[in-house]
Amino acid sequence: MRCDQTAAWQSLQQHAEAFAGFDLRTAFAQDAARAHALSQTAPHVFADLSKNHVDAATEALLQELARQTGLAAHRDAMFRGEHINATEDRAVMHWLLRQPEGSLSGELAAPLKLVHDTLQPMLAYAEQVRADAQITDVVNIGIGGSDLGPQMAVLALQDFVIPGKRFHFVSNVDGHELASVLKGLKAENTLFLIASKTFTTIETMTNARSALAWFQAQGGRDVARHFAALTTNVAAAAEMGITTTFGFWDWVGGRYSMWSAIGLPVAIAIGSQGFRDLLAGAHEMDQHFQTAPLEANLPVRLGLLDVWYRNFLNYTSRSIAPYHSALRRVPAYLQQLEMESNGKRVDRNGQALPYGTSPVLWGEPGTNGQHAYFQMLHQGTDVVPLEFIAVKKPTHSLKDHHELLLANVIAQAQALMLGKADEGGHKHFTGNRPSTFLLLDELTPASLGALIALQEHRVFVSGSVWGINSFDQWGVELGKVLAKDIHARIVSGDASGLDASTAALLQRVR
Ligand code: F6P
Repeated sequence: MRCDQTAAWQSLQQHAEAFAGFDLRTAFAQDAARAHALSQTAPHVFADLSKNHVDAATEALLQELARQTGLAAHRDAMFRGEHINATEDRAVMHWLLRQPEGSLSGELAAPLKLVHDTLQPMLAYAEQVRADAQITDVVNIGIGGSDLGPQMAVLALQDFVIPGKRFHFVSNVDGHELASVLKGLKAENTLFLIASKTFTTIETMTNARSALAWFQAQGGRDVARHFAALTTNVAAAAEMGITTTFGFWDWVGGRYSMWSAIGLPVAIAIGSQGFRDLLAGAHEMDQHFQTAPLEANLPVRLGLLDVWYRNFLNYTSRSIAPYHSALRRVPAYLQQLEMESNGKRVDRNGQALPYGTSPVLWGEPGTNGQHAYFQMLHQGTDVVPLEFIAVKKPTHSLKDHHELLLANVIAQAQALMLGKADEGGHKHFTGNRPSTFLLLDELTPASLGALIALQEHRVFVSGSVWGINSFDQWGVELGKVLAKDIHARIVSGDASGLDASTAALLQRVR
C-alpha cells in the first residue's frame, strides 16, 4: 500500500502535530535512558541517534509504517534476486558481490559463482599491477558511480595504499581535468582504467579516446598492458581496441558498483586482501540489514528517520560532516547514492506522488565546515539535520590533533542541541538542532565497507517506504539528449528553433 494511505502515516501526521513543541533538552531531562535507547550498534559502526527529533513513540510509529508498506518483504525480494528494478526489468544484487563464495544455494548459486570467478582474476590482475614497478601511475577514467566510489575509497583508505604508485581520477569531459593529469605522466609508466558500466557515457568515451591518442602519440604501443576496461559492455571496449577487460552485470547499478570490477583501482591501491576485507565489512552490514529486527536495525532506523524528517517535519536537506579528512569525498559519494536513487517524483507504477522524496545531501569535512557554513546550521532559519561521521583511532601520532578533532565533533553536536539562551539577538542560539553521530573504531577497509553498505541500505529503506524505484535514473537522460543537439549546433552555429535564451548563449559561446 502507498505509504500515505496507511494508518501509520495518518498516526504519524497526528504525532507530528503533537510533536511541534518537542525539545531535545527536555527529552533528555525527562528520560535518563534516552541516549541508550536511541543508540544502535551495527557491524563496525556505532550510531547515536538520540540527538534527533524523535522519541520512542515516533520510532514505534515509523516501524509500523515500515510494516504497513511491506519493507521487510521488499528487502527480502532484493536479497532473493527478484527484479525489483521494474522499469529496467533488472534484479538489484550489488550485495551479491560481497557474498562469501559458495554461501548460497538455489537460483543464486550460479550468479554467486560467476561473481567469484570474476573477482579472482580481477584481484590477481590487481596484484600483478602492484608488483609491476614500471607502473607508477594509475588513471581511472569514469564518471558518476564509475568514479565516485573508487575515488572516495582510495582516498579514505590512503593509509593502506601501496607506496610508489599514484592514483588519479578523471571524470569530467572538461579537458582541463584530463590535460592536467596527463601533463605529469609518462606513457610507459601509466595504466589507464576505463570504467563505464555501459561503455557509452559520452564523458568517459571522450576521455578514453583522448587518453588512447595521447598514449600512442607518446610512443606507447602495448595497449593491452596499459589500458583495461571495467564494464558490462566488453564488446564496446573491444571496438575501442581495449582487450584487457573485467566485467560485471546489469544487476549492479552504477552507484552501487564499487564492489564490482569498478573497484579495480581500489584493489590495486590496497591489495587483494584489503579489497576482500572491504567486501567482508559490507557483507556484515548486509547480514545485519537482513536479520536484525526492525527496531534494532541501523539502516532501517536511519532510513525511517529520513522519512520522518522529510515528510512529517519538512526538513528538506541533510548535511554530512565527516570528521576525518580521508573521508572528504564521502559527501559527494552519498549525494549520488541518495539523490540519484531517491530523487523521484513518481511511484514504482509511474504515478505522481503527493509527498516529498529525496532530501538534498551536501557537506564537507569537519572542522572545515565549522568555519564556513555551520553558522547557518546553528542560527539559520531552516533546520538541517546533520550527520557526523567520526573515527576513534587515528593512524598518525599527532595525538593532540586527534583529541582536538574529536572534541570539536562532539562539541558541535552538543552545541547544536543545547544552544545558548543567556544572550539575545545575534548571540542567541536556539539549540534543539538535530544530529546523528556515526562512530567507527578505526578507518579500515572493513569498516569503510560497512559504512557504505549501511548508507546503501538506508537509502533502500526510505525509497521502499516512499514506494519508488530507487534503482533507475531516467532523470539524467534528457540532459544527455539535449547536450548532443547543442553540441552539433555549437559546431554548426545553427540556432534555429531554439528558445531565445538558449540561442543567445549559443551565439555567445561561439
Ligand atoms: O548518467 C547517470 C549515470 O548513468 C550514472 O547512473 C552512472 O553512475 C554514470 O552515469 C556513469 O555511467 P557508466 O558507468 O555507464 O559510464
